[in-house]
Amino acid sequence: MTFPLAFARDAFCGLDDGWAYFDNAGGTQILEASVEAMTAYLRHSNVQTGGTYPRSQAAADALASHRAALARLIGAPEAEEVVLTPSTTGGFQLLARALAPQFAPGDEVILTVFDHESNIGPWQVLAERGVTFRFWALDPQTRVPRLEDLDALLGPKTRLVAVTWASNILGQVMPLEAIGERVQGAGAQLAVDAVAYAPHRRINVARLPIDYLAFSLYKTFGPHQGVLWGRRARLEALEPQYHHFIDAVPKKLEPGNPNYELAAAAAAITPYLEALGQHAAPGVEGSDALDAAFEAIAAHEGRLAERLLAYLRSRPDVDIVGSTDGLAADRLPIISFRLAGWDAGAVAQAVEAAQVAVRYGDFHARRLIEHLGLAGEGGVVRVSFAHYNTIDEVDRLIQVLSARTPPKADAQKKGA
Ligand SMILES: Cc1ncc(COP(=O)(O)O)c(C=O)c1O
Repeated sequence: MTFPLAFARDAFCGLDDGWAYFDNAGGTQILEASVEAMTAYLRHSNVQTGGTYPRSQAAADALASHRAALARLIGAPEAEEVVLTPSTTGGFQLLARALAPQFAPGDEVILTVFDHESNIGPWQVLAERGVTFRFWALDPQTRVPRLEDLDALLGPKTRLVAVTWASNILGQVMPLEAIGERVQGAGAQLAVDAVAYAPHRRINVARLPIDYLAFSLYKTFGPHQGVLWGRRARLEALEPQYHHFIDAVPKKLEPGNPNYELAAAAAAITPYLEALGQHAAPGVEGSDALDAAFEAIAAHEGRLAERLLAYLRSRPDVDIVGSTDGLAADRLPIISFRLAGWDAGAVAQAVEAAQVAVRYGDFHARRLIEHLGLAGEGGVVRVSFAHYNTIDEVDRLIQVLSARTPPKADAQKKGA
């Protein structure tokens, strides 16, 4: 399957200034179609919904259809299961507050330092209900949580498990089905952070043994908005977060008006990915087109990741923080590393000379970076690809990294 790269690149704003943008796990470029949909909404449909006049009804219909497009994107059976949030962090904060009445003293919640703080910090409000937090540890060798260790933590008191589907540092995909089956078996609920996963692999919530899932559209080719999905029965059981007289899903979980224009922009993501799938596999339609798009994306991104990882593996002074195999099925093209003798920030700034944008730090997965002992020297350098990146861009990064050999003394000191 040839990847329709020209089609993909043409669809995005912001790729024509000569830079290679490799901070996609921080935020992707936005689709031209999203920008157009947002301005068209503001120009032609910008009235308050809920009125009886035609434009107000059209605006309400538009919001419903935008929600439906997002439901299609993630395979949600019902559009009303899609809650629009300002961000993933905001979505988990809201979910934690809305879930709180379901907890009693002695209940247990399982979290892991593998996660972004977004799926750890918000749950701390449950401490007010007398909840005990248990942390799912990492395997010291692989730096990834192991299923056996989850088994040891799950028990009759477990009410909730919160875990990321993929790490925004290691690019490691977690075995979500196996986790979900275990959590369901224990009679607990499962909240999933799909932020790092969503731009790279197909999400089909209907087929997953999970209860809630959140992700950020600005890292998935759209605007600065989040989606919180939950199974209808779960959402209905949540404490309303809007006015006391609003109890219908999803409105009771969207305090104030949702952002109509961002919803319009967000809805453009689904048809773009369907069209990408049709370019990759002519003749496919609907859900199959999304499958085809993500199959093509995974193959193309695997080639990009392996190109960089093969180079990094060849350097004895590089510590790759995560799996070293770019083609592994459970690895996303989010590649973090340390270069011996170099502060991570100095590496990030050095590659800018070749118009390559990468990032360094802890990426708000601070507990993970501290747990791995990587908090000093600027944290890690993170190179995160999206499907519109090219092999030539990766080669430009490799070339500029090759010109940076650490001073010998420092390299020896680090290796000692
Ligand atoms: C894995 C992961 N989860 C959550 C977040 C937070 O997303 P938001 O900015 O939408 O709150 C991020 C942002 O970097 C992330 O990478």
